[in-house]
Amino acid sequence: MNILLIGSGGREHALAERIAASPLCERLFAAPGNPGIAACGTTIPLDPADHGAVIAACKERAIDLAVIGPEAPLVAGIVDDLEAAGVAAFGPSKAAARLEGSKAFTKELCRDAGVPTARFARFSDREAAKVHLGRHSLPVVIKADGLAAGKGVVVAQSLVEAEAAIDDMLGGRFGASSAEIVIEEFLEGEEASLFALCDGETALLFATAQDHKRAFDGDRGPNTGGMGAVSPAVALDDALVEPVMASIIRPTLAEMGRRGAPFRGFLFAGLMVTADGPQLIEYNCRLGDPECQVVMPRLMSDLVTAMLAARDGVLAKFAVRLSPKRTLGIVLASKGYPGEFKRGEPIRGLDAAAAMDGVTVFQAGTRREGAQLLADGGRVLTVVGEGASFAEAHRRAYAGVAAIDWPGGFSRGDIGARALAHEHARKA
Ligand code: AMP
Ligand code: GLY
Repeated sequence: MNILLIGSGGREHALAERIAASPLCERLFAAPGNPGIAACGTTIPLDPADHGAVIAACKERAIDLAVIGPEAPLVAGIVDDLEAAGVAAFGPSKAAARLEGSKAFTKELCRDAGVPTARFARFSDREAAKVHLGRHSLPVVIKADGLAAGKGVVVAQSLVEAEAAIDDMLGGRFGASSAEIVIEEFLEGEEASLFALCDGETALLFATAQDHKRAFDGDRGPNTGGMGAVSPAVALDDALVEPVMASIIRPTLAEMGRRGAPFRGFLFAGLMVTADGPQLIEYNCRLGDPECQVVMPRLMSDLVTAMLAARDGVLAKFAVRLSPKRTLGIVLASKGYPGEFKRGEPIRGLDAAAAMDGVTVFQAGTRREGAQLLADGGRVLTVVGEGASFAEAHRRAYAGVAAIDWPGGFSRGDIGARALAHEHARKA
């Protein structure tokens, strides 16, 4: 098969390696890709937002399957456009991607399907939102309805902070994405993510992971797209996974089917493991970044076969096999990220890191200039260590980071701290 992968991040580099390694894959193309992905296939410099150009590229290269990595093209309906043009595509339709594209849609769906989630109310009027706030307990969570590049959620500790968030969002901070907001109850517990592979009717557990969203050690600093991750998630032990599938994932899939928007693709449930059990924080309609980078090294099944089975609606006859090994991924980002940062500084030592036992380096915001690799984005690399224990995965990942020479980059020093503590406690 000829396969086209859409995207250019570390998640897509991890996907590209697995797709290229599949016995089903004849040729891999990626648009726009990055220098890491270019080592797995042929990159095509086109903008995924231009669906016409993507379709033309698929026709020209006789693409048998298009795989969509990021949320923006999914929410924009790229799968509908590709399928309508006769190109098989893996990922949810525009209607199904609303699970990520609209928080209000998802909250109402959860209510109708009986999925445990924080109590909520939706508003497009500032005064009405503030009256509601007056009756709400603190802390309170204020969310922009639509996509806001991970910046659309404020956990407010005070009324003043909450009112400021309401004014900011309904005042147009995120344009159409915050024309409506959701105000919801604060959930206490430990966060974890579960990924399910869905074919519209059947959902298979794919993997669990835990990421680190804040920029700095000790979960301080601004929210980012993710500074590191581990898999599996220690907060979601085996005893909790089936209850999440039964009370959250399957009812959601059934309700989407009832609404005529069957979900096909990777469903990413962001969960809070509370004293009352796991509750849904949010859905994403794709794999996470950097979660994908820690999940792919554990996958023992063929990724292309799995994606095809989901696209074709035959997952009921399928199984996903995951290795029991532990993985830990550390993101190297440009100093200043998630704010302003410089581009163009050389990165050295990547090959030495990648040659280490149990270490894989995925590229995201990089650019090649002659023989040199340059930093060219916010999140630039993910270094993943794997091992029989989190302790081993941690040691390997940080040894990989130490081998990389890039003065303009930074990473957190405490990735996997909770997983290590959990592992240590279990041994003791
Ligand atoms: P989201 O973009 O919905 O994942 O929200 C970003 C982050 O805000 C989450 O990862 C949580 O840490 C936090 N958050 C969102 N909703 C809630 C909630 N209802 N209770 C507690 N924390 C939340
Ligand atoms: N790492 C969180 C996400 O991909 O949304």
